Amino acid sequence: MAEMKDMVNKVTDAIGGTMAKLGAASTTSADGFVEQAAIGDAYEIAAAGIALRRSRNDAVRTTAARMISDHTTSRHHLQAALEMNETRGVALPPDRLDTRRETMLEHLAEASEDSFDRTYADQQVLAHEETASLMRSYAEGGDNPQLRSVALCTLPVVERHLAHVKHLRAQL
Ligand SMILES: [Fe+2]
Repeated sequence: MAEMKDMVNKVTDAIGGTMAKLGAASTTSADGFVEQAAIGDAYEIAAAGIALRRSRNDAVRTTAARMISDHTTSRHHLQAALEMNETRGVALPPDRLDTRRETMLEHLAEASEDSFDRTYADQQVLAHEETASLMRSYAEGGDNPQLRSVALCTLPVVERHLAHVKHLRAQL
């Protein structure tokens, strides 16, 4: 039964992630970008915290530690940009996740021991594809130059993470 639940959760995450990637690929408003970038950072940091608590796999743990470090940095870059005059009037990021990311964290927390590492890797591939879409879309067509430069700086980090988590998933 645990396997069935893991499978259903995986499909649910994949459908949500695919829809979200489409939305992310057309984000050009500052408010939408800030909201999604902030939630993306917070989600990755929270997921990595669960991975550090639950995984005994060194490659997974190293990945999780790197996500916490790099997304704490990208969160600071976003916050710094939001304190500048150039972003006056842009809505501040939400202080909580959205339902979809909350559900992904629940799925990760409740994944069976056998499938935990794969669940983390699968979710991280989805999350990084979505974030890469968001950064690329906003860097190309975003309406605020200051935030466009945040997207431009963050994109290569996210692309490196995406390649890294795909490699991790292939190893598990
Ligand atoms: Fe990441």
